[in-house]
Amino acid sequence: MLKALRGTKDILPDEARMWQHIEASSRYIFSIYGYNEIRTPVIEEASLFIRSIGDATDIVQKEMYVFLDRGGRKIALRPEATASVVRSYIENSIGSKEGLSKLFYIGPMFRSERPQKGRQRQFHQLGVEAIGSDDPLLDAEIILLASGLLKKLNIHNFKIKINSLGCKKDKEAILEDHRKAIKPHLKSLCDECKERYKKNVLRIFDCKNPECQKIVANIDASNSLCKDCEDHFKRVKSALDGLKLTYEVDSRIVRGLDYYTKTVFEIVQEDLGAKDAICAGGRYNDLIQDMGGKPTPATGFAFGMERLILAIKDSDIKSGPSLNAFIAIVDKDKFKQGFALLSSLRNKGISCDIDYEGKSLKAQMKKAERLGARFVIVFGGDELKQGKVALRDMAKREQREVGIGEVVTEVTR
Ligand code: HAM
Repeated sequence: MLKALRGTKDILPDEARMWQHIEASSRYIFSIYGYNEIRTPVIEEASLFIRSIGDATDIVQKEMYVFLDRGGRKIALRPEATASVVRSYIENSIGSKEGLSKLFYIGPMFRSERPQKGRQRQFHQLGVEAIGSDDPLLDAEIILLASGLLKKLNIHNFKIKINSLGCKKDKEAILEDHRKAIKPHLKSLCDECKERYKKNVLRIFDCKNPECQKIVANIDASNSLCKDCEDHFKRVKSALDGLKLTYEVDSRIVRGLDYYTKTVFEIVQEDLGAKDAICAGGRYNDLIQDMGGKPTPATGFAFGMERLILAIKDSDIKSGPSLNAFIAIVDKDKFKQGFALLSSLRNKGISCDIDYEGKSLKAQMKKAERLGARFVIVFGGDELKQGKVALRDMAKREQREVGIGEVVTEVTR
């Protein structure tokens, strides 16, 4: 039997309702904050991600799906969307049209990771990118936006962890500090981390090997920032304080992608385990220039939708009835008349369905219940001879006779 690939999942109708709820809530919050949707392709040149996310990162080294297309071009399935949005921003001169550009996206991403709870190979992100300002208030705004979305989804037990990696120069100094601190333990690192030590020492923080984790846990990761970056971070914190948002400064938040500068943050949800962030992001003030655009500061974040679903599962989101009405046919030869009523109801915007399987009345009633129909219109029998149908209100468990001509008005009412 053919099966879905490991690390991928079908989202069946029952679960899809939850996805729609999350998407609708996020679209609502994003629009309130002035973000507009951008949709970029799922495939891009692999070099886009290698250059932006970084050659020494796990994503590029181990997780990216890369293939040669029929023209011999090296293509990647996008492992994240920030690089794609930046590519599009530069290619379409979006900044010259609208100054500060506030963009959001919702869609599938691909990383060949070991699947586990809340970690898939095809997963979905919803994220924002605010491109064109270095204002610390913008950093605070996107953190507020992320926590606002969580609250809208009725998720409350989360922690916001923030840090600043400083500017390019600060980052280099931080790397040097880390290199010095880790050097005495070089022999105890795993082979991969020995390589990471040479290429990008920050990536040792992402290593899942317990021995390497123990080494980084014991090094002092407190960063010394230049005056400008220190001041920027102070203003971010003071803005968050002003917004009464609770957060923790955690100098171990270094992020698994190379493009970050200054403020970075992660939101963890206790039930998912402290390791797995439900949302993550930060500033990437050099990326647009590094990718060939004009120097343009920017910041953003992405939520993992599968992790949001896990966080919501326990809190009861009622999916609500999906049908307004169901037409149950008693006399099969009256199907045509029932079918005409079905069209009239649908034309009025009433969601409605009918039995196409020749089921018994009892089975049709069960089906109506399973579909969450608010009303069942029982079509046939003596009532029909008098030009009437039985209208059953499934929520109130009441039934009354209604003239066929009045059904549309009655159900609409
Ligand atoms: P990231 O930390 O790689 O950042 O991913 C963001 C979020 O995507 C994670 O916190 C997690 O919730 C979810 N996620 C990542 N990998 C998986 C997976 N294999 N399965 C399920 N969920 C996953 C980024 O992608 C950046 N582009 C975020 C950003 C936007 N930074 C600035 N702007």
